Amino acid sequence: MNISQRARQVSPFYVMELLEKARELEAQGKSIIHMEVGEPGFETPLPVKEEAVCAAKDGKTFYTHSLGIPELRSAISRHYRDLHKVDVPPERVIVTNGSSGAFVLLFAALLERGRTLAIPDPGYPCYRNIALLVDCGILSIPVTDETGYEITAAHLDRLDTFVDLLIVTNPSNPTGTVYRYGTLEKLHDRLCGLGGTLIVDEIYSELVYNTGFRSSAAISENIIVVNGFSKAYAMTGWRLGWMIVPGELVRPVQKFAQNLFISPPSLSQYAAISALDQRDAVEHMRRLYQERRDFLVPRLKSLGFSVPVNPSGAFYVYAGIERFDIDSMDFVNRALLEAGVAITPGYDFGSFGAGSHVRFSYANTLENIKEGCERLGRWLPALCK
Ligand SMILES: Cc1ncc(COP(=O)(O)O)c(C=O)c1O
Repeated sequence: MNISQRARQVSPFYVMELLEKARELEAQGKSIIHMEVGEPGFETPLPVKEEAVCAAKDGKTFYTHSLGIPELRSAISRHYRDLHKVDVPPERVIVTNGSSGAFVLLFAALLERGRTLAIPDPGYPCYRNIALLVDCGILSIPVTDETGYEITAAHLDRLDTFVDLLIVTNPSNPTGTVYRYGTLEKLHDRLCGLGGTLIVDEIYSELVYNTGFRSSAAISENIIVVNGFSKAYAMTGWRLGWMIVPGELVRPVQKFAQNLFISPPSLSQYAAISALDQRDAVEHMRRLYQERRDFLVPRLKSLGFSVPVNPSGAFYVYAGIERFDIDSMDFVNRALLEAGVAITPGYDFGSFGAGSHVRFSYANTLENIKEGCERLGRWLPALCK
């Protein structure tokens, strides 16, 4: 069998490997505190589940329009008007199979051999691995705490490669950075001036703490905004996302959507219309995440981790382990086996700073997070000996 070059290049999703190992240990009776996965521990709000049941009973079990049902596209358009004060016509909203599906469609429509995608390092790993499918150039832009982990226009000025597409994640996975609006405006100006395009992944946009959030959809109709129901609405398994694209991109994306996915999942779409109305449930979850972050960040610092920039969005802490003088892969493997705490190694997010950083997810209960920190507190002195 001839395994493709691409299959050799694609990197494992370490967080999933860690999770699988952790589950094996649990099956053997070991107790593990999960701080690796970026999945809300909350169940989907009840009214959303009820809508899905109604839709199933009403026989809404068929393929839908490839761009999403009109009611949901209109509801997303209203959501932008009400929450973000931006007018986005439903015609520019495309419903996708998770936000992951949006990246597949965008890269298929916009990238090919000879074009370049720029991504942040540290950054969300799937961008790179999805882009491998279309054979484009991939350029990692290392970001540090000096810019609060933002990619800035100065980063672009220093590049000697033309960038066709740049993705930024706002708020960021893994650093929790919420971009300054001015930074995004400048990135768009720089890229646009040269014929490139900015994609902003706003999947964590409703999970921000002590700060406001402005959607990049307001900056320009030429910016592509990707979002989804997985995180803020606790709907990871429903596999539903959306994107806002310039009008001229709708048809090219639609042709790929028809062929690759046929349609987004039907029941999920009917249910998602009501998800957007669950403001109290989303706010309740957001407050709990904030409480966990407020506990976790100082606690990690007191344990010897470095957290130079306070994360103000998403549910992650990107922490330096320089103090422990150990590679992050060894660190997380030993933390799992010796302390019973699952954490993600920096290697999931790129290569820059990968060995000296780990990511903690606080999408777990405060009680479990406290227990995880207790365990680390008992284990770390042995590691440092
Ligand atoms: C930054 C970022 N974008 C996209 C996704 C994918 O989300 P979805 O479930 O909508 O495919 C994730 C999931 O962890 C993420 O962290």
